Amino acid sequence: MSRALATNHDRTRHTLPASLDAARLPAHVAVIMDGNGRWARQRGLPRVMGHREGVEALKRTLRLCSDWGIGALTAYAFSTENWNRPGEEVTFLMTLFERVLARELEALEREQVRIRFLGDLEPLPSGLRQLIADATERTAANAGIHFNVCTNYGGRAELVRAARRLAARVATGELDPTQIDETLFAAELHTAGERDPDLLIRTSGEQRISNFLLWQLAYAELHITEVLWPDFDEAALEAALRDYQSRQRRFGGVEAILP
Ligand code: FPP
Repeated sequence: MSRALATNHDRTRHTLPASLDAARLPAHVAVIMDGNGRWARQRGLPRVMGHREGVEALKRTLRLCSDWGIGALTAYAFSTENWNRPGEEVTFLMTLFERVLARELEALEREQVRIRFLGDLEPLPSGLRQLIADATERTAANAGIHFNVCTNYGGRAELVRAARRLAARVATGELDPTQIDETLFAAELHTAGERDPDLLIRTSGEQRISNFLLWQLAYAELHITEVLWPDFDEAALEAALRDYQSRQRRFGGVEAILP
């Protein structure tokens, strides 16, 4: 638990692999980090050890995305359904989030990462909420990659919340229902101000969206890999980006639109 995001101020930057076209990278990558439990089981370890290793994979991915010039990374860390896991695992995850955040904040600041936590943060332990508030505030003005950690996040809950917020504005007379359009709706989501992900990566082979960014993924390209999340490395990210660059994005039209 002592490996920090950066041990010194001048870490080696990763250069973009020659197989990738710098002009056609996704501006925003979303990831469903699946397979931590299976990774641990394969090694005869408790499930939670998979989550610990998953943090290392996330740090690796954040650094690679940042170095390669990707503008935003959004990761699904804890869903509204994850409370149904065994109590000890939930407690372990909350403690892990706290420790990681406390340990990495300095490096995030130094590396110009802007971190935000998306989801209903109310039910989280108060210590974690405090760390989240602190990290969000201290990195808000950073000019580097946007790092969004979806925590107690659910896509449907997010849509219901947006509808309620708009309805409340209608009820006060501030807004007329006819004014509600996609732009106004998107502005009430947790992701307000962030562009939609261009690419969704899901590890461990499951072919599901699992209530993740239901609105925002409307036109995302999907890359599903068999790699388990703790094993997700530079080669796996490169493969995902190569796959993305092989796609023709049409957004419902006929012409390919880049990136
Ligand atoms: C699912 O694997 C993965 C999670 C529940 C995510 C755990 C969170 C992290 C690794 C990152 C935390 C990051 C920060 C910045 C606080 P699983 O348990 O569903 O695996 P399985 O499908 O093999 O059981």
